[in-house]
Amino acid sequence: MAVLVTGGAGYIGSHTAVALHDAGYKVVIVDNFVNSSPKAIEAVRALTSPGLAFVEADLLDSGAVRQLFAQHQIDEVIHFAAHKAVGESADQPLRYYRNNLGSTLGLVEAMAEHGVTKLVFSSSCTVYGQPATVPVTEAAPTGAESPYGWTKYMSEQILRDAAAVSDLDVVLLRYFNPVGAHESGTIGEDPNGIPNNLVPYVMQVAIGRLEKLRVFGDDYDTPDGTAIRDYIHVVDLAEGHVAALAALASMDGCPAVNLGTGVGSTVLDVVNAAADAVGSPIPHEIVERRLGDIEKIYADAALARDLLGWETRRDLTEMMRDHWNWQRKNPQGFAT
Ligand code: UD1
Repeated sequence: MAVLVTGGAGYIGSHTAVALHDAGYKVVIVDNFVNSSPKAIEAVRALTSPGLAFVEADLLDSGAVRQLFAQHQIDEVIHFAAHKAVGESADQPLRYYRNNLGSTLGLVEAMAEHGVTKLVFSSSCTVYGQPATVPVTEAAPTGAESPYGWTKYMSEQILRDAAAVSDLDVVLLRYFNPVGAHESGTIGEDPNGIPNNLVPYVMQVAIGRLEKLRVFGDDYDTPDGTAIRDYIHVVDLAEGHVAALAALASMDGCPAVNLGTGVGSTVLDVVNAAADAVGSPIPHEIVERRLGDIEKIYADAALARDLLGWETRRDLTEMMRDHWNWQRKNPQGFAT
């Protein structure tokens, strides 16, 4: 059974490729390195098998996608490949819609042509916006606040519609906030330029690449006034994909499933846990709220437990330990 992992050189994709290999799956990665490094493939091969199949291709190139399916015996697909920067998506909406929707459409068409009917899709809790109640269940209303968010919302709809009239079976995985790294410290998150996301920023402060963290707002209605998110260890997240593939074998339709811990942490909880992992304080200051930020969100993780038989096993301490281990060993990410 070979699993095609699109975007397998990326942060979540690379960890999932390793988890799939560990679970006994044969893996074929496709990536165009638009936002990732060939070094990630080397590192994944070092953790798995030197012969792990890799194809460099852009999913918008329909000829290349057809060739990929013709040359490899693909049984199932996990689709990560997408542009993912919220701010950039607001500046370049058409690029985001073309890439994220076009690649999904082309992939699903190629799957149909080759009789491949099982798909795990990378969605995001961003489709919930600010939920009326937390923990948020999959039944909560969805929408989006950025072109990036709309591409996830629309991709979910496209896949639901396709699944309704074909043999296609899909699990839509709505990720909360992935952090951490493989315990080896050889793969991890490697953001381009100055990170937007909290934990990469904190770790670059810790390693000395950035001076201090700006904490966006301490006047939210939360225990310490800073915003709440559901941080999930990327290896737990990767294992969630393995569980989703296994569940797909006996599942019809197109359910959406939250992948989160069910635990909310504030920004300062993260800063403190990071300081413990690093062994020194993280310099930070409180500044204005960030435009568009939501106050609190964390997952109701019950459906993942019931449907996929999966739950997270790693806590915030382990997330920070492993993220720091990656950062410490690779101060400049894959360019180190
Ligand atoms: C952001 C995206 C979301 C995307 C997710 C990917 C926005 C509005 N949302 O979500 O669509 O799916 O990343 O993981 O960009 N923070 C600071 N200082 C910083 C950076 C972050 O205080 O320098 C705070 C934020 O205000 C927030 C928390 O840390 O409260 C987490 O921020 P971030 O990592 O950017 O994730 P999200 O806002 O959840």
